Amino acid sequence: MAILLLDILIVLFKSIVAIFEAIYLNFFPPPEESVLGEIALITGTGHGIGRELALQYCAHGATVVGVDINEKGNAETAQLVKERGYTNFHTFTRCDISQRQNVTELGKKVKAKVGDVTIIVNNAGIMPCHPLKNTSEEEIRKIFDVNVFSHFWVLETFLPSMMEKNHGHIVGISSMAGVVGLPNLVPYCASKFAVRGYMEALAEELREDARNSKIKFTSIFPFMVDTGLCKNPKIK
Ligand SMILES: NC(=O)c1ccc[n+]([C@@H]2O[C@H](COP(=O)([O-])OP(=O)(O)OC[C@H]3O[C@@H](n4cnc5c(N)ncnc54)[C@H](O)[C@@H]3O)[C@@H](O)[C@H]2O)c1
Repeated sequence: MAILLLDILIVLFKSIVAIFEAIYLNFFPPPEESVLGEIALITGTGHGIGRELALQYCAHGATVVGVDINEKGNAETAQLVKERGYTNFHTFTRCDISQRQNVTELGKKVKAKVGDVTIIVNNAGIMPCHPLKNTSEEEIRKIFDVNVFSHFWVLETFLPSMMEKNHGHIVGISSMAGVVGLPNLVPYCASKFAVRGYMEALAEELREDARNSKIKFTSIFPFMVDTGLCKNPKIK
C-alpha cells in the first residue's frame, strides 16, 4: 500500500513538473536543430511533401538523398533544387521502397556514392480512397507494403550505421488518419496507426540502451496537405 501511494505521489509530481516544463518551452523553445552537414534520406521526393522537404533540407545545408519510384517526378525535384542554386541533392530513382531487395541495393549505392545516412524521413505513401468492401486483397497488401513495411526495410538498411555512431534522427510521416479512423480509408488508417506504433515502440526500444540514446525519433501527423494525394481536400 505504501509503495502504491509513493508511486501515485511520484506520478503526480512528475506530471506537475511536465506541465510547467511544457508551459516554459512554449514561451522559450529550445534552439532549432541544425541539419548542416547531415545526410538526409527522404523517401517520396518526386512529389508533394517529400519534394518540399528535399528543398527545405537542401536549403538548410543537409546533403539530401532523394528516393522515389517515379523517375520523372524526382528529376523535376532535382531541377527545382538546381534552380535554387543548391548542389547537395542526389537522386535515387526507380526504387520501390516497398521491396526489401530494392532497399538493400539502395543502401549499398547510397553508402558508396554519398556516405552514411544520419537522418531518415520515411515519407512515401499511397492513399487509395473507397469503401472497404470495394478494396481488393492486392490493394490492401500494397498499402501496407508501401506505407508500413517500407519503414522496416529502410531502417533495417540505414539504422545500423546510426547506431554505431549513436547519432541520427528518424522521422516517420504518419497522418491524422493514424490518430482517428476515417470512412473510405480503412486500410490507409490502419497503415498510419501502424506507423505510429512502429515509431513509438522502436524509439522506446532504442532509448533503453544508452549506446543508442542519442538517436531521435519524430512522428508527424499531418491533416490535409494539398499535394494531389488527397483529392479535392475540404476542411471546415
Ligand atoms: N497530402 C496529405 O493530405 C497528407 C495528409 C496526411 C499524411 N500524408 C502522408 O504524407 C506522405 C506524403 O504524402 P504526399 O501528399 O506528399 O503524397 P504524394 O502522392 O504527393 O507523393 C508521394 C511520393 O511517394 C512516391 N512513392 C509512392 N510509392 C512509392 C514506392 N513504393 N517507392 C518509392 N516511392 C514511392 C510517389 O512516386 C510520390 O512521388 C504520405 O505518407 C502520406 O500518407 C499526406
